[in-house]
Amino acid sequence: MNTQQIQLVRDSFALVQPIAPQAAALFYDNLFEADPQLRALFKGNMAHQGERLMGMIGSALALLDRPATLLPVLRSLGARHVPYGVQDAHYATVGAALIKTLGQGLGNAFTSEVRHAWTDLYGVISATMIEGTREPVAA
Ligand code: HEM
Repeated sequence: MNTQQIQLVRDSFALVQPIAPQAAALFYDNLFEADPQLRALFKGNMAHQGERLMGMIGSALALLDRPATLLPVLRSLGARHVPYGVQDAHYATVGAALIKTLGQGLGNAFTSEVRHAWTDLYGVISATMIEGTREPVAA
């Protein structure tokens, strides 16, 4: 991702922040509509889960220009997702639900550049998380 794309995702995420609880709820509606079987994976409180997802995306955005710090955090997040029952293919479903939600939440502000920047960001995050499932867990 280039500097301009990083700025685009940061600016658009800031626009979603005031409606974060609604955006999180909308995201899970979109996700479970795309794949109802995923519902069974989520054991906890969904409002809380939504906050964690938005929080994690926010942290990733804050750390984008410090990849040496961000990448190990994302790898271990990916490794933690294996016992939750998450499979590689689920990342594409989640990515599509996220992009759909951003489009709904941002309306006209979701330009093709913004969409592209988010798609790239999610690609980097998900590829790094999946990479983390391939590594042996440190003793
Ligand atoms: C950008 C990608 C993702 C991010 C940033 C993310 C973030 C998180 C965070 C921060 C947690 C809290 C627990 C922890 O830190 O270990 C969590 C839990 C969880 N995530 Fe993700 N996640 C992502 C992708 C996915 C995908 C693709 C799935 C598949 C459906 C998924 C399913 C879950 C489940 C089932 C839990 C446990 C929740 C519970 O027990 O209720 N996540 N995720």
